[in-house]
Amino acid sequence: MEFRLSQSPAVKPFMEVLSGRRQPVPPAWMMRQAGRYLPEYRELRATAGSFLDLCFNPEWAAEVTLQPIRRFGFDAAIIFSDILVIPHALGRSVRFEVGEGPRLEPLDTPEKIATLATAANFTKLEPVYEALRRVRAELDPKIALIGFCGAPWTVATYMVAGQGTPDQGPARMFAYREPDAFTKIIDVLVENSIEYLLGQLSAGADALQIFDTWAGILPPREFQRWSVEPTRRIVEGVRAKAPHAKIIGFPRGAGAQLPLYVGRTGVDGVSIDWAAEPSLIRERVQSHVAVQGNLDPLALIAGGTALDRAVDDALANYADGRYIFNLGHGIQPETPIAHVEQMLKRVREYKG
Ligand code: CP3
Repeated sequence: MEFRLSQSPAVKPFMEVLSGRRQPVPPAWMMRQAGRYLPEYRELRATAGSFLDLCFNPEWAAEVTLQPIRRFGFDAAIIFSDILVIPHALGRSVRFEVGEGPRLEPLDTPEKIATLATAANFTKLEPVYEALRRVRAELDPKIALIGFCGAPWTVATYMVAGQGTPDQGPARMFAYREPDAFTKIIDVLVENSIEYLLGQLSAGADALQIFDTWAGILPPREFQRWSVEPTRRIVEGVRAKAPHAKIIGFPRGAGAQLPLYVGRTGVDGVSIDWAAEPSLIRERVQSHVAVQGNLDPLALIAGGTALDRAVDDALANYADGRYIFNLGHGIQPETPIAHVEQMLKRVREYKG
């Protein structure tokens, strides 16, 4: 019989940082790293039918998740899916119009909200779990796999308005006028997001990210009620069953409220946008949790010395502490691939 030494599990630099251990070269990945700036994504996308067909085909979703890993060797892969799969599993109609973004049937009266299902149909999300298992099986053990969901506030903004809007006015107005009905949407999203995130952990995700893209549009009182508190409940609910789960929050635009967000929610890391103020982040956020971010995606499109300067600034601001290099929001489709390579080369040459 062949004798084999049992191998110690590979160290994942991304997970090390989330566990409080700074890495000499910061691990790096990009929000929206699988997507339209990649020719191999556009090619598969063209044959896949609708965007949700792509998300719910485990073979394709796994392939698209791995595309940016093969090309750039990022330190983390994020499962290819969308935050709006939860409304879909709750039985709401969700479509993605090419060039226009998501379209849902608006949930904008207390009467409609009274009919909202309380439990999602998780068999609809089984393909996401299967895609995670497939990616896990293929992924280099040093690379982390990230599962995710939208924060209840951000998902609710799309459910109420039925689409993205410049200022999320419909959801903000609805939350003021019908707080009880709006609370029901938030509560349903909290409970189902906990279950969805736990399912992603069981399927092989190493860490979780909660995307609150529209957190920063709320006044402080509403920010605490609709962004911080539901996120705190999700973190608590996930940890009740998975005590060691590592969770990153992304309350985009939260600015000076980031210390409060971190203190109250209990996240292990926070993703920051490019407008964040470095000394506030270092002194009142990074001193407690890992920081991820925050290159301006437009600097990545611009390239050249503007990109070099932006990368150097991010490293100078945050790489002395527990830090994951990322963008301040998703990469945009017109971004040249050569600029992503330039950015990564500079991050990996960092000597700190
Ligand atoms: O990061 C990744 O590579 C993983 C995949 C991922 C997608 N969406 C794929 C996607 C993730 C993590 C998301 C999160 C998401 N989805 C958020 C939060 C993060 C953020 O970017 O603010 C939000 C608000 C959504 C909702 C959503 N999905 C919108 C508003 C749109 C349209 C805008 C656009 O970029 O087209 C989508 C569609 C979408 N989700 C695409 C991708 C790759 C583009 C659709 C396509 O390729 O046809």
